[in-house]
Amino acid sequence: MRVSDCHNIDDFRRLAKQRLPWPVFDYIDGAADDEITKRRNTDAYADCDLVPDVLAGVADIDTSVTVMGCKSALPLILSPTALQRVFHWQGERAVAKAAEKFGLWFGISSLATVSIEEIGTMVSTPKMFQFYYHKDRGLNRSMVERCKAAKFDALALTVDTIVSGKRERCARSGFTSPPRFTVSSALSYACKPRWALDYLFREKFALPNLDTHVREGTGEAVSIASYFNSMLDVGMDWKMAEQLRQDWGGAFCLKGIMSAADARRAVEIGADAIMISNHGGRQLDGSRAPFDQLPEIVDAVGGEIEIICDGGVRRGTHVLKALSAGASCASGGRLYLYALAAAGQPGVERAIALLKDEIERGMRLLGVSSADQLNSNRLRRRNCC
Ligand SMILES: Cc1cc2nc3c(=O)[nH]c(=O)nc-3n(C[C@H](O)[C@H](O)[C@H](O)COP(=O)(O)O)c2cc1C
Repeated sequence: MRVSDCHNIDDFRRLAKQRLPWPVFDYIDGAADDEITKRRNTDAYADCDLVPDVLAGVADIDTSVTVMGCKSALPLILSPTALQRVFHWQGERAVAKAAEKFGLWFGISSLATVSIEEIGTMVSTPKMFQFYYHKDRGLNRSMVERCKAAKFDALALTVDTIVSGKRERCARSGFTSPPRFTVSSALSYACKPRWALDYLFREKFALPNLDTHVREGTGEAVSIASYFNSMLDVGMDWKMAEQLRQDWGGAFCLKGIMSAADARRAVEIGADAIMISNHGGRQLDGSRAPFDQLPEIVDAVGGEIEIICDGGVRRGTHVLKALSAGASCASGGRLYLYALAAAGQPGVERAIALLKDEIERGMRLLGVSSADQLNSNRLRRRNCC
């Protein structure tokens, strides 16, 4: 299978599976406990049907939206994800350049493998920094200052990861950051020599946004669960979130809001956006799908804050359904990570191009010429609960 054989995100998933050592693939593909929430995040879109209008004169369409004051050519954000250098040697640089080429918002993680400063100078398109709230207040302050200096357009505080989800695939494989070459893992790496050579002989793995402060940034191999459980502040509360918003002073987003009550509190502390998200099913298994939870949150705070529907998106029509249900835009991680892992920057570009094409085709077939024409009249839920 080659990149040109990939016609949708699931094809990229298959190619990534072929090309990655299984512990690395399972880190991307896996989720918490029984992985019910991860499956549900995508299945939720299939439980809802679109109702098209025809003869609508849709020769010219505008797929752009404005999110947190910045224009994005598609109603789709590339969500921040950790450790991209491990998936492909081009890592975050490939994703940043692909996002810029298509004019999209994208994010980098606190656990990014390139620095805030490099991303700041590399791309002109809007970028968010995903903020993990560490016990080490010096580290928190330093990340905020670095993001300000690098002119990031938004800070997204992740609120669903005060402790690590129980990711059983990682527990079985012993996946660590950076990958540890033990006798038991060596075989899986040896079976994928192309990945192994790229990993060993190209630029060294680093976590440059953490390495001055915590041992997780120094190259010592630790599990992701151990990073979350030892470094993050489990006592994080609304006061701390509000203080962070003030210290940052720019566009502020809470990533991982799921309840209408929390969405209301996000408005009260002055957040500009919320990402309805369960971290791609990697944290609380059994948590509701963002798309299922969207109407409740739109009823509670629609028009008062921007609402980003995160996770499970694998098709352009999923994005159109999220917009129809009241989201400002959709976002996702695996939709570009499988492609990054499969083929680096050309892979990510092809994945975005496929989604762009699906969004444009879907809008035309629905009879809408701009994203703001999508509303709940376009949707019928099959199982209302
Ligand atoms: C491999 C991987 C790493 C991730 N790393 C982070 C991270 O460092 N910080 C964060 O807030 N979310 C992280 N996420 C969650 C994504 O930002 C996003 O919420 C999730 O991928 C959405 O689900 P989807 O993959 O089905 O689109 C990660 C997701 C994956 C798959």
